[in-house]
Amino acid sequence: MENKWLSEAFRGEVPDDFKGKVGWSSPSNIALVKYWGKKGKQIPQNPSISFTLSECRSETFVTYEKADRFGFRFFFDGKENPAFGAKIEKFLLDNQAFFPFINQLNLTVESRNTFPHSSGIASSASSMSAFVMGVMEIETLLTGPSTLRQDQGPQGSGTLDFCKASYFSRLASGSAARSVFPKMALWGATPYYEGSSDEYAVSLENDIHPVFKTYRDAILIVSGETKSVSSRAGHALMEGNPYAPARYAKANENIKDLMAALKGGDLDTFINITESEALQLHALMMCSNPSYILMKPNTLNLINEIREFREETHIPLCFTLDAGPNVHLLYPESEAEKVEELIKNELVNYCAEGRWIADRVGDGPKKLL
Ligand code: PMV
Repeated sequence: MENKWLSEAFRGEVPDDFKGKVGWSSPSNIALVKYWGKKGKQIPQNPSISFTLSECRSETFVTYEKADRFGFRFFFDGKENPAFGAKIEKFLLDNQAFFPFINQLNLTVESRNTFPHSSGIASSASSMSAFVMGVMEIETLLTGPSTLRQDQGPQGSGTLDFCKASYFSRLASGSAARSVFPKMALWGATPYYEGSSDEYAVSLENDIHPVFKTYRDAILIVSGETKSVSSRAGHALMEGNPYAPARYAKANENIKDLMAALKGGDLDTFINITESEALQLHALMMCSNPSYILMKPNTLNLINEIREFREETHIPLCFTLDAGPNVHLLYPESEAEKVEELIKNELVNYCAEGRWIADRVGDGPKKLL
């Protein structure tokens, strides 16, 4: 696949009058089976499955203009941001064999997130996938639509090849591979899903029960502080983790069982696997060397409240965690009223300044221009 995309890259002369602006909005995603541990160039040690979110998104515009050499500037929320810009620039330069035309372009990138600053929500999945879509659209303007296009992308989102978008998003930031598909995505090769790959994610939109297509995710902000250990360092610590082989075996088993539950609408199994995966992720951090803890006291308070409420009411809500202290509260749309009452009456007491974000399963990237 890599070679096909290499041979498809535009290597010609960029026309002198080539200039314009493209814009894409791309969502964040929340993993149910977690990707934790990688090898090589962002190749996952185990497959992962996520919900694509709707409200937490990055909106990224790329202005391009013919130039003698590669030029690059990055603005976040209207202000030049060389630190984040350097990451994107490095991604482009490291992968210029796929994007040789960038050496004839001046690029100005303007990006913003729809979710608040310091909410502890990782923005690399949404921002990297939005940027990748922009660069691929510029390529399409030079070459015409991809000959390898697969009709997996969100409706009305143009003529991009979403499999390729997922591949480049993965190279930019692993879990970003899953953000380009509507509803749910699977990233990582597994015998339980034909066509799955370590190189890019695939859409699970047509493999899930309708209940999951409108699932809600209330993100309960326990702390908006930048986490003390980055995901990159966390992945690296899996290398010496004595529990790593058992973890990868369990994740593969969970993929198989979760896929069956997603298909059949089996909420008990969904809850069981989702919560166990969140706790395994944090357990792996606690038994790394050096060990570290990203949960806060209020993370545990929320987990206890959520479990107690489920036991008392039999409402099928559950939690998952990202690599941080915030709690993602997942529930079917049909229970929204009762769960939101719980959030407003009880759970906000454990949130930093009472903050939470009402999100839901979404339809993937959108073309803005
Ligand atoms: O994509 P990265 O390198 O930021 O790693 C993401 C890791 C988790 O968010 C903890 C799990 C996942 O699968 O998204």
